[in-house]
Amino acid sequence: ATVKRYQFDIQVKNVSRLCHAKPIVTVNGMFPGPTIYVREGDRVLINVTNYAQYNMSIHWHGLKQFRNGWADGPAYITQCPIQRGNSYTYDFNVTGQRGTLWWHAHILWLRATVYGAIVIMPMEGTPYPFPQPHMEVNLLLGEWWNTDVEQVVNQGEKLGLPPAMSDAHTINGKPGPLFPCSEKHTFAMEVEWGKTYLLRIINSALNDELFFAIAGHKMTVVEIDAVYCKPFTTQALLIAPGQTTNVLVRADRSPGRYFMATRPFMDVLIPVDNKTATAILQYKGIPNTVMPIMPQLPASNDTDFASSYNDKLRSLNTPQFPANVPQTVDRHLFYTIGLGRNACPTCLNGTKLAASLNNISFVMPKIGLLQAHFFKIKGVFKTDFPDRPPKSFNYTGAPLTTNLGTSLGTRLSRIAFNSTVELILQDTNLLTVESHPFHLHGYNFFVVGTGIGNFDPTKDRSKFNLVDPPERNTVGVPTGGWTAIRFRADNPGVWFMHCHLELHTSWGLKTAFVVEDGKGPNAGYTSFGSFSDGEGKESSSDVG
Ligand code: C2O
Repeated sequence: ATVKRYQFDIQVKNVSRLCHAKPIVTVNGMFPGPTIYVREGDRVLINVTNYAQYNMSIHWHGLKQFRNGWADGPAYITQCPIQRGNSYTYDFNVTGQRGTLWWHAHILWLRATVYGAIVIMPMEGTPYPFPQPHMEVNLLLGEWWNTDVEQVVNQGEKLGLPPAMSDAHTINGKPGPLFPCSEKHTFAMEVEWGKTYLLRIINSALNDELFFAIAGHKMTVVEIDAVYCKPFTTQALLIAPGQTTNVLVRADRSPGRYFMATRPFMDVLIPVDNKTATAILQYKGIPNTVMPIMPQLPASNDTDFASSYNDKLRSLNTPQFPANVPQTVDRHLFYTIGLGRNACPTCLNGTKLAASLNNISFVMPKIGLLQAHFFKIKGVFKTDFPDRPPKSFNYTGAPLTTNLGTSLGTRLSRIAFNSTVELILQDTNLLTVESHPFHLHGYNFFVVGTGIGNFDPTKDRSKFNLVDPPERNTVGVPTGGWTAIRFRADNPGVWFMHCHLELHTSWGLKTAFVVEDGKGPNAGYTSFGSFSDGEGKESSSDVG
């Protein structure tokens, strides 16, 4: 196999957006960071050297890291963070996956500026299962704060309130010309009439599910989360933080300039639309003075669009790319998602917001959980996470204002090797209902069902799609509803699972699975990342 090497230098750089300049944490001084460009079957070595004042760790979001949790990246879950002046080499094989994924900082809220695309080309000689595009373009959707993000977060912590919302959305780090001082911070792509383009769209925003549309042009969705899907054509996309969506776009409209636009899907909040980011799709030969046309995006509370869009997602499920959906279940899990409040003596009003699974808010450990598991270090975590919420825990009914206190703990669930798992994620009415994009590390899963209201095992399970459900690594649990996922626990290790809204993650909406080791040769964890000091490392991007 080919070995691809990258050097990531974590550096602070001054960047200006929206008439504000501020230092941000970057990889190699780039914002967004460099693209990891590999082929299925490659071995990838990424040496990360930290020159910034914050501890760092990088997660390769969606890469399965088969028997290789040491390279997964979430701080205090699979590794201790990389301290200033130190390096860590992420060493992994890209097996059985091709498509668009991404990487991001996995500590504090540093992924606000530390993120980039991962493009995995199919094996040599294996074409895409759709028409070969003329060109491919990455579009990373993000968020921008005018002030220092870590300060914003700490301020919120102190008050026990949510931190201030971002000031703009961005496309490839740029908000686009609808924002002040942003004419030059506009991403533009040039197209030739009659040609087809593959857009690799990544939602790297911290806290917003996003709609995305291109004026005048339909998009054909061909892949989600690096899994091919049954192609369908749509005017707009819905994409949750953590998710990726590949679309084909044909440049067959009257040559001109067209806005590509993104703005949040906020189903329960009062729709405020002051953050729409735009980029430009420009036909060759059209002058920059032509005013671009704006696309129609779904209204920011359009839940009907959201559910009908998600209903269209289906695995390709061909003999070459089968959907191996577990037909039977060894282990049934049912986790409620709740928001609540906890005592916080140092906070302004004595309480702070908390988020929970089965009414447990996860407490971050001081030692990496994978280390603790591998070296059998006692007292770091417990594996008593309940398979269902406590009987006495009433999560149904009208918004509940009592019994909001969550319990705290570093509690994990132990899963037998190779068992099939079904997990129902159930949103609740505690404090408020909200939609939650759930991400599982180390696995893809099948989204076999979803619905509004409370999950009814007798009625709802019989309607599951066990043939061609979407296979992905992040799924949106609808507001006041449920989502059912299934996967085979064939990847031993300690795997994080959390809401990919950074706000909720920091309030404790997370847990991890300890998947036990299997039998036979190669049953263990096959590699171990190496620590070294950062001296003598050259600073270059894309050494591969
Ligand atoms: Cu993209 Cu644990 O996250």
